[in-house]
Amino acid sequence: MRTQVGIVGAGPAGLLLSHLLHLAGIESVVLEARDRAYVEGRIRAGVLEQGTVDVLNDTGLGERMNKEGLLHHGTTLRFRGRNHHIDFVDLTGKAVTVYGQHEVVKDVIAQRLKDGGRIEFEASDVAVHDFESDKPYVTWRDKAGKDQRLDCDFIAGCDGFHGICRPAIPASIQQVYERVYPFGWLGILAKSKPVQEELIYNNHARGFALFSMRSPEITRLYLQCDPDEDIANWPDDRIWEELHMRLAGEDNLRLPEGPIFQKGVTPMRSFVAGPMRHGRLFLAGDAAHIVPPTGAKGMNLAVADVRYLSRALESFYGKNNSDRLAGYSDICMRRVWKAQRFSWWMTSLLHKFDERSSFENEVQLAELDYVVSSRAAMTSLAENYVGLPFEEQK
Ligand code: APR
Ligand code: PHB
Repeated sequence: MRTQVGIVGAGPAGLLLSHLLHLAGIESVVLEARDRAYVEGRIRAGVLEQGTVDVLNDTGLGERMNKEGLLHHGTTLRFRGRNHHIDFVDLTGKAVTVYGQHEVVKDVIAQRLKDGGRIEFEASDVAVHDFESDKPYVTWRDKAGKDQRLDCDFIAGCDGFHGICRPAIPASIQQVYERVYPFGWLGILAKSKPVQEELIYNNHARGFALFSMRSPEITRLYLQCDPDEDIANWPDDRIWEELHMRLAGEDNLRLPEGPIFQKGVTPMRSFVAGPMRHGRLFLAGDAAHIVPPTGAKGMNLAVADVRYLSRALESFYGKNNSDRLAGYSDICMRRVWKAQRFSWWMTSLLHKFDERSSFENEVQLAELDYVVSSRAAMTSLAENYVGLPFEEQK
């Protein structure tokens, strides 16, 4: 089998890359370890920057997002039991859209299949070969148990944090930067009416809590917990009780309870591996970097990477020019590090750190007070949250 770009992983990065390449007249094949139902049902975050929304709209993927997505003009920071509104539109002229990542995944898969795209689900033992030469190839075992080989010009490693592409790059040429946080998030989806229209990022002495939503009937909630917390210790009643305690305050904010239909614990880390290219292997999305979810940047960074990668490949195939491919890692990394800084800062600002002294806890509250009372500080938060402008490659 032969194609131009072999893509490993059918998350947002791999799927959108194959769609963008198709629009540019470049062929690809996507190899995915899991089955379609698993990929389409995997619950992740759900905040899309304006730039991400634009990419989806400009490439014909916006129909359902525009109908079902919720446009948010701002967000709320809550501390000492009081809400403080940050108005993104007033501060930056931009908004964000709340639309689940797995909904984006469903939309791209449907479009790829409609356009005759090839996605090989349930591909096991995927391995990438000879990407230091100009004849790379990918091997795997298909779902019928047959060994397969795909020859290509380039390989895109879009296989997430636990994938095989990043480890295939020699450790000697890759630099890894990592910070593991001493907590995780326990996340739930509940059939209950969202208590307000916008998100609430809540700082509390018992730990961080986030109020979010997926639709006018579905609430998404998160609680800071131990990184290795056993979900079995959290029956529904305990989750609601803890949420009520963390969100209590003089304004009597009280979440309406409802049946919880999804629960999970996610550990939190900041991680960057670079460069994002070695020979003819290009990494994109979580394969190269992870952010803690506090800044809602994960999927947005994956979209930015593949936007750059598709343009670089377009310039290679269309104009026989490799400059953009050569600059791919640098241009992505500049955006990645700014998103890393922002996600780390939001995490530090909002969570309870057991090792912090009472002095540092007061400094954290003073910083929150400052952020919500200074237009300059609020603008800094807002412009990062809605997404910094894309830098254009020469
Ligand atoms: N072979 C084939 N596919 C693989 C392999 C493998 N060895 N390992 C992993 N995969 C698949 C996973 O099953 C998954 O479908 O690669 C895909 C990677 O997708 P994501 O983890 O969603 O990563 P990415 O597309 O980069 O999207 C980043 O996902 O984790 C969130 O918050 C993150 O929103 C961000 C987004
Ligand atoms: C979500 O709705 O899942 C969500 C929202 C904002 C975040 C993280 C997750 O910062």
